[in-house]
This record gives sequence, structure tokens and C-alpha cells, in this order.
Amino acid sequence: MESETKTAAPPCAVVIFGAAGDLTRRLLIPALYNLCRAQLLPQNFALIGIARSKLDDERFRRDLGESFREFARGDTQLADWQWLAKRMFYLRGDFDDPAVYDELKRILQKADAERGTEGNYLFYLATPPQAFANVANNLGAAGLLREDEGRWRRIIVEKPFGTDLQSAKELNRELLRVMAEHQIYRIDHYLGKETVQNIMVLRFANGIFEPIWNRDHIDHVQITVAETVGVERRGKFYDKTGALRDMVPNHLCQLLSLIAMEPPSCFGASAVRAEEDKALGAVRPFDAVAVHRDVVRGQYGAGVVDGHNVVAYRREPDVAPDSTTETYVALKLMIENWRWAGVPFYLRTGKALARRRTEVVIRFKQAPFGLFRDTPVERLAANDLILYIQPDEGATLRFNAKIPGPSVRMAGVDLEFDYCDYFDCAPNTGYETLIYDCMIGDATLFKPAESIEAGWRLVQPMLDAWSRERGTAIPIYPAGSAGPAEADQLLAHDGRAWRSLDAAWSANRQRPSRPKAASSSDRAAVTELKRKPTTAI
Ligand code: BG6
Repeated sequence: MESETKTAAPPCAVVIFGAAGDLTRRLLIPALYNLCRAQLLPQNFALIGIARSKLDDERFRRDLGESFREFARGDTQLADWQWLAKRMFYLRGDFDDPAVYDELKRILQKADAERGTEGNYLFYLATPPQAFANVANNLGAAGLLREDEGRWRRIIVEKPFGTDLQSAKELNRELLRVMAEHQIYRIDHYLGKETVQNIMVLRFANGIFEPIWNRDHIDHVQITVAETVGVERRGKFYDKTGALRDMVPNHLCQLLSLIAMEPPSCFGASAVRAEEDKALGAVRPFDAVAVHRDVVRGQYGAGVVDGHNVVAYRREPDVAPDSTTETYVALKLMIENWRWAGVPFYLRTGKALARRRTEVVIRFKQAPFGLFRDTPVERLAANDLILYIQPDEGATLRFNAKIPGPSVRMAGVDLEFDYCDYFDCAPNTGYETLIYDCMIGDATLFKPAESIEAGWRLVQPMLDAWSRERGTAIPIYPAGSAGPAEADQLLAHDGRAWRSLDAAWSANRQRPSRPKAASSSDRAAVTELKRKPTTAI
């Protein structure tokens, strides 16, 4: 993770396995384009896509050009796209076929000779997970992972990294048979999001948060990753995977560890990773009773999302009509260390929900009410620090303020920070930083084997318990809702409630105009942090 001005990455060729897939079209190509536009790709660059589809270079460029126009965010410049397209090549083949790797070797040598890529290769495995080990073995056998004479060879492995703890360990062993740990970049694209990286800056670069970031002051934490999309074209993969495997050991654990970790000694990869792992390692292990009590799953039924009819999950393409795969999961966990003992962390994620929203709510303990007993005040608003990860990006801190007027009345008001108000928000898929970091050899934002295993260790008891209960009914929630009622009960049982998915990201944004300070209306005065920073970070 770089904080100073970035310069173009060193000469290299990027090879994408799975080049005809959704990930390549929707995210990788737009990310490479954004890097090109920001002049962070090297002049000496080549991109080789490998897939089974019957394409040639021209058709590959044209197809990706079409989907690029659909998925690119922000302004696009034809000249930048043409620069990239000219450097794109296609190789048709089966990932299991050794002959494909011989041909790839030939194409790469040609790129080195004609495009000056200097033998530096980044292999991006955007394939179904079953292919990871095979591709790596074949690359190894073809000599394409050998780093000599100053050349680097790196491999980005997409998630899911394994399907459970055992298979994740096995995959690690397989990869390490053909390459060294420093060549493996296990990706969790959540770490490429600016707002996720900002969690560390918010916590550790400010004197005001860290002293109260503990069980003495925090009542509980909520982490939500809500999506409006269903399984789309991924039924085959998703029906075998489910929301727990797809989201919890990786993205949710990533957010959890950034919120819960101790301050690392520096921003370096190993110091940060060590603290993240310690935080995950301190989660109280789930047993069968805890899974039953503290973990809720659900599956979406038919409903309406964003005004569009959505079919029930079981009627989605490539999904079994009697599937009991979860598309929603909510859980409560406890971290057993000096900072967090007694503070519940509630996590939830689901598809086909009412809103797309990734956010973290830190709920501080209530102030004592006694002072207000003989006033018209009925209750105090909770002090919430809310970190908005996406689609809105920013943070709000909610506190109580007196409503102007003769009697003591109060309202919760928000101190708000909107990322894009302060900084230029360049179009970003989350993959730009990660691809660039891999090209320059910075592994800070990637996962070592231990972190991957820590995520699986946490969810393994849930997978075990659910596989014992295979065939039992799963709660169904209507598409377009906030999830199953059982998830609400999980918090209601503790006298708490989820922050509504309908809640506006900022009370201030709801209002058409600022209320007048002298108004005696019930509207709270708005406090805004709207000054531009004087120094860039
Ligand atoms: C992926 C999951 O890792 O993350 C998808 O496989 C999910 O199912 C996606 O939709 C969510 O990512 P984002 O960046 O849209 O929150």
C-alpha cells in the first residue's frame, strides 16, 4: 500500500486465466483500463487472455471493448482503451492441457522480444477454484514460475481459496510445491477498497478514537454486507458455495479484523497481517450449540428488488429446485481478549436484499439517563460511529444535540464525512490497487496462508453443523426484504436491533436544504464537516 505518488509499474505481461468470464469483463479489464488511464501501467506491457471460448485476438479485443463500455465507471477515453486493446492477445485452450502452456510460453517470449516485458509475468487465476492447483502445476512444469536473472513471476489467486479448512490447507501445499510463498498473492478484493483501507487510518491516525475503541466504551459492533443482486449467472458455483463460504471467511472477516485488531507496529505487510490474525484467532470458537444459537441462515424467495421482479433462488438458472443453499447469513461472535471481552460483533450478509450497502456500525455505550428524568426527553439517541464502505463512502458520528427552544428537547444529529466531498474519487473497482501492488511486489494487501486458514477455522464449525443438518428446511425471506426474521431475533434476544437497511446514509443528505439555525422546529441543527483539507495525505 503506497502513500506517496505512484509511478508506473515495471515492464511486465499479465496473463488472465478465465479471460472470457464475468470477473474479467466486469472488473479486471475496467481495473486495467483505470490503471492505464492513471499512467500506472508500464509502457512495456502485454495482456494475454486464456479461455476455452473460440476467439481470436481481434474478437477478444472487440468483445471486451463492448463489455468495457458497459462496465467502466466514470469518463472513458477512447485513446486509452485503444492503447490497452493493442496490447491484448488471446490464447484458446483448456487449462488442463500441457500444450497450452507451451504455446503460452512462446507467446510470452514473443512479448518479451517485441514488447519489452522483460520476462516479468503476473498470472491471474480468474478461473473456477477447482482449476487453481492444476494451472499452477502446469505453469510450474512449463518453467513459467521460475524466477531467475532478476525476473519476477507472480500468481494472483482469486477466492474462494478452498471450500473449507482442509481444502484450503491442501491448496496451499499444492501451490507451495511449485512456487515460493513470496510469489503467491491471495486476493480479497475488499482490501482494494479505499474505504476499507481507511479503517486503519481512521483508527490509528487519530488520537480521538483509539482510547475509546474497547469494551469500556463500545456496546456492540454491526458489520453488514448487503447486496441487491441475486446469483445472476453464477448458479452453478453459488449453489455449491453459499453465502457463508462466499463472503464470511474472506470479506467479512477482513472487515472484522480491521475493526478489532491491535495497532500494528508499522504499515508493513507482516506487521499488519500479524495483528489481523491475532484478532481473528481470539474469536471464541463456535461449537454445535453456538452455531444453533448464534448463526442464522436464509434463502431468498420471489420478491421485488429495486422495482424489478426477482424469481426465487430455487428457480434461478443452474440452481437445484430443492436447494437448501443459504443466500443470507447472520451471526453473532465474541472476541475473547482484553479489548473486546463482552462486546458482541454481529455480522450479516445476503443477496437480493432491499439495499446494496456495506457498512460498519460501532455503537457506543449509552450515557446515563438520570439527568433528563424530569424533562420531556424520553430517550437518548445512540452514539453510533458508522463507516460507509459502499456504495456511499464516508463516515458519520451520531450524537445528541439540544433542539433550540425553551424546553429541554433533543435530537440525534450527524457529524458527517463524505469521501468524495473531500477527495477526488477516481473511478475504482477495488482491483486497481491490488493488481498494481502485485506488479510492484507489495503484498501488504494480500492474504498469507495463515489468514486464509484463520477465516476458514472460524466458519468450519458452521459448515460441519449444517452438513449434519443437510435437508432440513431453511428460512425463506422475500427478495427485496432485509433478510429472514430469525436474523432480527438474533439481536432482539440481546435487546438490540440491526440498523435498518433503509436508513439514509446521512440524515443531512435527506434534507433538501439546511434548516435555519433560529428555527424552533423539531429539526436538529446540522453540523457538517465540509472544509477541504489543507494538506493532502
Ligand atoms: C465476491 C462474491 O467475492 O464479492 C460475490 O463472490 C459478491 O458473490 C461480491 O457479490 C461482492 O463484492 P462487492 O465489491 O460488490 O461488495
